[in-house]
Amino acid sequence: MKLESLLLIPKKGPVVAIDGPAGTGKSSATKRLAERLGFVHVDTGALYRAIAYALLSEKGWLEQGVAELSPDDELRAVEISKTSELRFERNPKKNPANRIFQNGKDITSFIRTPEVSMAASKVSAVPGVRKALYGLQRTMGGQGKTILEGRDIGTVIFPDADVKFFLTASVEERAKRRLAEFEASGADAPSFEEVKRQITERDQGDMSRAVAPLKKAHDAVELDTSRYTLDEVVDWMEKEIRSRLKT
Ligand code: C5P
Repeated sequence: MKLESLLLIPKKGPVVAIDGPAGTGKSSATKRLAERLGFVHVDTGALYRAIAYALLSEKGWLEQGVAELSPDDELRAVEISKTSELRFERNPKKNPANRIFQNGKDITSFIRTPEVSMAASKVSAVPGVRKALYGLQRTMGGQGKTILEGRDIGTVIFPDADVKFFLTASVEERAKRRLAEFEASGADAPSFEEVKRQITERDQGDMSRAVAPLKKAHDAVELDTSRYTLDEVVDWMEKEIRSRLKT
């Protein structure tokens, strides 16, 4: 069965969908918009990262990552997706960022490494993994007053979203932003060329997979964020959301 033909679990209120490739400013913009609008932020990439992290941990591959998944690895990733209890904890007073828990363990600080990023892209191409996470995303987002960021929110998870955006930016600009994040976090930064290579490889995987590839929904508003500051992007998106939702 194609994911697109799964029945839509009814949504209870307004949903905003933000899709686009890595490094286009989705996460930062979504976080700020959620704060300004009083909406719940659902970071769907963190769910794929959690599955990838669990698989790499089991295999002892956290340091080296994975170039390709074997059929057995794919089966195991599906199993992990079906059996993991995944939840976000949002407590802005206690934690500045959303935390993600897998089977009761806070894994937030382990899922942003380059190895987990690449592995997340690999596991996200496995149809059974996407299918297992579909209901969870629909349920988390369907509560209403939610803003979800990902790759297929406007096309597959919430084709019925009230407002849809598709953010883009040049590879050079995205690599620059990723490097700045590495530097700010104090982590060892790879070279500019290496970051560009990783971004390009992830884009290609995300855009060419058979199920729910990364693409703009026909009714999404597209914005190239390359030449704008985060504040400019967020101001523009907030106006667009308020005018469409009439809030
Ligand atoms: O957004 P983020 O970079 O954290 O996502 C990690 C990976 O998870 C992406 O490269 C993509 O392969 C996958 N993903 C996806 N569908 C989503 C969100 C993320 O396939 N809705």
